[in-house]
Amino acid sequence: MKLFLDSADPKEIASMAATGLVDGVTTNPSLAAKAGMPMFEFLRAICDVVPGSVSAEVTATEADQMIAEGNKLAKIAPNITVKVPLTWDGLKACKALAGDGHKVNVTLCFSPVQALLAAKAGATFISPFIGRLDDAGQDGMALIREIRQTYDNYGFKTEILAASIRHVTHVRDAALAGADVTTMPVGIFKQLAYHPLTDKGLAAFLEDWKKTGQKIL
Ligand code: E4P
Repeated sequence: MKLFLDSADPKEIASMAATGLVDGVTTNPSLAAKAGMPMFEFLRAICDVVPGSVSAEVTATEADQMIAEGNKLAKIAPNITVKVPLTWDGLKACKALAGDGHKVNVTLCFSPVQALLAAKAGATFISPFIGRLDDAGQDGMALIREIRQTYDNYGFKTEILAASIRHVTHVRDAALAGADVTTMPVGIFKQLAYHPLTDKGLAAFLEDWKKTGQKIL
């Protein structure tokens, strides 16, 4: 499973990208509003440090304008993926942009039939929002399983990008459910490596090693 960062902060992305474990980045207009710099500026900076897919979202609501915005965003760097919302206009724009060879991420997906439409429109990625479904008292992870089964039934190649991740357990469950990608905030990405027994075990190993008086280097 690929691991993406859900962030529009080039500094925090650069520091995580240095691990070599960041496969891509997703941004959205709400993250852009918090970025404290113009969107084209942070997108360029992110594309400079992450070679994988970097999703940049259109803000128009009509297909023609979405296509025009998508074409402009795609010029920022070769690894830009144009992100469009799951509306009829977004699906039309997806079909056109994908037909022109652009990668497209269809976002704000909350049902398996929406995901089916996105795949038929040629989406590279479909972004089901797990956390927002959970917040609404529904089962976000069930959506990942339903999309996985739908896509596998018909051989769709669109990648399932589990989004709106709230905690590490979401990442684990998305992996078990067969999501192709999970995108998460930097804080959750960092927590993936953490386990209290790892810390406890390491402290005990180091303590015992100290007693030997040896050094490796
Ligand atoms: C994904 O592409 C979205 O940017 C993101 O995961 C939305 O998450 P949120 O529900 O925490 O805003």
